[in-house]
Amino acid sequence: MLKKKIQEQLNEQINAEIFSGYLYYAMEAYFESEDLNGFASWMHVQAQEELLHAQKFFDYINERGGKVELDAIEKPKAEWDSPLQAFEDAYEHETKVTERINNLYDLALEEKDHATASFLKWFIDEQVEEEATADEIVNKLKRIGDSGHGIFMLDSELGNRTLDTAEYTEENE
Ligand code: FEO
Repeated sequence: MLKKKIQEQLNEQINAEIFSGYLYYAMEAYFESEDLNGFASWMHVQAQEELLHAQKFFDYINERGGKVELDAIEKPKAEWDSPLQAFEDAYEHETKVTERINNLYDLALEEKDHATASFLKWFIDEQVEEEATADEIVNKLKRIGDSGHGIFMLDSELGNRTLDTAEYTEENE
């Protein structure tokens, strides 16, 4: 059985993951409006991943005999001045998510909830990857600067991203 304090924080994390998805869908819409279809497609995959993260928390609460409680999702920002600004926001957002996951992990240890601590390890590793990926794209965009050719090349590269569902299947959990 989950302790109330832990259950509350896990439910808040469902909200935070769905908000992340919402934010990346907003970025997808922004890139679509700029005719940057590869950037938009990358954000679409990112948004789908966030919903899978939310699902993982949802399933875990149920598996532990807890109660999922869904709250309202905050409205995300809708406009950015440039692809660089959008990816800088994405990177900053991911650092905040990392902080949330780390706090949740600290709480699980404090409460001696070893199962939750173990469950959260997947997210601790995932956040290293999430931050590194966003940071890499920020750095590429900084190097590209105002080069239309550079943006076009990066747009094609990012358009190749596909959703890898293997890491979300039972045997990989
Ligand atoms: Fe679910 Fe991007 O962290």
